[in-house]
Amino acid sequence: MQLSDRVNRLKPSSTLAVSALAKEMVSRGIDVIGFGAGEPDFTTPAHIRDAAKRALDAGMTHYGPVPGDPAARAAIARKLVRDNGLGSITPEHVLISAGGKHSLFLLAHCLFDTGCGLEMILPTPAWVSYRPIAEMAGASVVEVPTRVEDDFKMTPAMLAAALSPRSRLLLINSPSNPCGTMYRPDELEALAAVVTEHNAAGGNLLVASDDIYEKIVYADTPFASICRFLDPKWSVTLNGLSKAYAMTGWRIGYAAGPIELIKAMSKLQGQMITCIASFCFPAIVEALDAGEADVAEMREHYRRRAALMHDHVSSWPGVRCPRPTGAFYLFPDISAWFGRTTAGGALLRTSMDVATALLNEAHVAVVPGDEFGGCGPRHIRMSFACSTEQIETGMSWMASFVRGLS
Ligand SMILES: Cc1ncc(COP(=O)(O)O)c(C=O)c1O
Repeated sequence: MQLSDRVNRLKPSSTLAVSALAKEMVSRGIDVIGFGAGEPDFTTPAHIRDAAKRALDAGMTHYGPVPGDPAARAAIARKLVRDNGLGSITPEHVLISAGGKHSLFLLAHCLFDTGCGLEMILPTPAWVSYRPIAEMAGASVVEVPTRVEDDFKMTPAMLAAALSPRSRLLLINSPSNPCGTMYRPDELEALAAVVTEHNAAGGNLLVASDDIYEKIVYADTPFASICRFLDPKWSVTLNGLSKAYAMTGWRIGYAAGPIELIKAMSKLQGQMITCIASFCFPAIVEALDAGEADVAEMREHYRRRAALMHDHVSSWPGVRCPRPTGAFYLFPDISAWFGRTTAGGALLRTSMDVATALLNEAHVAVVPGDEFGGCGPRHIRMSFACSTEQIETGMSWMASFVRGLS
């Protein structure tokens, strides 16, 4: 079969190899504890599900408007003003699409062309989909590698050093997947000042703030979006309902930014999917207008689990792991184990070796850090989107694994 270069160049995720092995072990009846999941273990709250059921029964089964129905776009605009202080956002600035990933895809294809020579600035470690989505659209990705000692945060000086006249998009994801840490408002303000200065000097840099984990925070300082500190013409918010409202399977995301950009993204969406499933629109309104109590309840569970898992990981000799302040991940530096041998005789040289050995010998699934960029290859990602019982069991199995290293 002759396939396009575009798709041939797309690398299948190596992390899938670990999850495929985990699934295969489960199918053989082996008890595997999964710390690999990138999605809430909760079910979508009943009142949100009911809103979609009512919409179906009321006949909301036809195509909707491409950018989303007016009530849902209005609910998102209200949310962005209320929660994020983005006073200039109106429903016209909002596009509803099939998940945060889809919003990013649309954005990248509206900013980049094949061979355009324009760059996306990406602080790393970062979510594995940013690079392939941007590259598929024609961007060159410029990584800004951060350090575990700095809670994986980019400084204004690091950002300034990465910028050039080719810089077109800066991607900020706070709280971060995979790092589990987030920027303080003053840190974002300082980064925004670098962008403002760059653009004042003739730059053309748009900032995309991926706020998908904004509701899952445990820091002493509140969540802030970098968009709050930028001229609205230089910023776009990417967000969705997947993580905050436990709605990963619904495929609902949105982008909010300059009207010209949103119209372009909408034009592209019109030729891709038309619009999202129309009976989901009332569920968006219900979640954003009346879902805060559910979010708060889930957040308390994540907060307890974060502390529990972090306490365990901190007791492993030589392993460094910042305290999680947001999202539902820990991203420990396990490079102290490189060069050592497991009780089962496996020599650990890479993060992938560690993840494979953990699965084979401790029956715990984690995600190797190799694909997250930057210092990622010295780390593993552990998700605590699972019960405290699973965390206790998995951590005790991992502790035996650690004790067995020689
Ligand atoms: C950082 C980040 N952004 C965006 C997404 C996309 O989520 P969805 O496409 O379900 O909205 C994810 C999902 O894992 C993520 O981790």
